[in-house]
Amino acid sequence: MIETIDPHRDKEISRSGQAVIILGHYYNSDHIKIPIIIKKFYSTSHFFDELMIYAFMRKNPHISMINMISFNQEKNEIYLEYIDGHNLGEYSFNNSNEKVNIIKQILNSFIFMHSLGLYHRDIKPENIIFSKTGVIKVIDFATSCFNTRKPFCIQTVGTPGFIAPELLREEKSDYLLSDVYSIGMTFYYIITSEYPSEEDIDYNLIKDDMLLKIILSMTDPDPRGKLTMVQIKDIYEDIDFKEIK
Ligand SMILES: Nc1ncnc2c1ncn2[C@@H]1O[C@H](COP(=O)(O)OP(=O)(O)OP(=O)(O)O)[C@@H](O)[C@H]1O
Ligand SMILES: [Mg+2]
Repeated sequence: MIETIDPHRDKEISRSGQAVIILGHYYNSDHIKIPIIIKKFYSTSHFFDELMIYAFMRKNPHISMINMISFNQEKNEIYLEYIDGHNLGEYSFNNSNEKVNIIKQILNSFIFMHSLGLYHRDIKPENIIFSKTGVIKVIDFATSCFNTRKPFCIQTVGTPGFIAPELLREEKSDYLLSDVYSIGMTFYYIITSEYPSEEDIDYNLIKDDMLLKIILSMTDPDPRGKLTMVQIKDIYEDIDFKEIK
C-alpha cells in the first residue's frame, strides 16, 4: 500500500527540462520526520512514464533501486526516499578501493535491471548517487523504458559523452547495448575523473590492462562486438587491482 502524503518543501535542488527536484520532508505515522525528494514534472506524460518505472521497481526491490514513497497525480509529483550522499558527478573519490567497489555495485545494479527488461537510457555520473553508507543508488528514470511493456523506447535520448554512437547515428538500436556503452563511459569517468567527450577520450589514462579491455569493449562504437554485462562482471571479479589509474 502506498500512503498518501502532503510533504513540506524545504529547498530546490535542481531543475531540468522535465522536472524540478525539491528536498522536502513529512512526518510518518510515528511522528518521525522523514526527508524526501519531491520530483515535480511539468508534463503529465513524463510523470506517468517515470511513475510506471518506480511502481514496477517497488515489486522488484534491489539494494541499488530508489524506493518510491508516494505520488500525487493531481500535482504530477513523485515522492522518493532521500539518499544522503552525493551523485558521482559531484563526489570526490577517496581512493582506488572505493572506485573498484562503486564499479562493482554499478555492474550488479544494471545486470539486475536489465534482467527485468528495463533500460535506463540516461546512465551518467549525475544519475548515480553514492550514499554516505557506501551504497550506490541509481536515479532518474525519466527516459527509461521496458522491452515488453509501457513505456516503450521511442525517442532517442541520452547525454553527450555518455550516449551510444549508434543512437546518435539513429541506427536501429539494442537499448541494452546502448546502456552498456553509457555504463562503460561512466566507468571511464570514475577511473580517470575525466568527462568523456567524443573528440577526446584518452584510454591511456586507464593503467590496468583488464580494466582497459572491459571499458574498450563496453564503449566500442560497433555495438555488435560487445562483451555481455555478465562476462564483464566475471572478468572484473578476477582482476587483482593494484593501480586502476
Ligand atoms: N532520491 C534522491 N536522493 C538524493 N538526491 C537526489 C535524489 N534524486 C535526485 N537527487 C539529486 O537531484 C539531482 C537531479 O535529479 P534527477 O536526475 O532525478 O533529475 P532530473 O530533473 O532528471 O535531472 P537531469 O535531467 O538534469 O538529469 C541528482 O543528480 C541528485 O543529485
Ligand atoms: Mg538526472
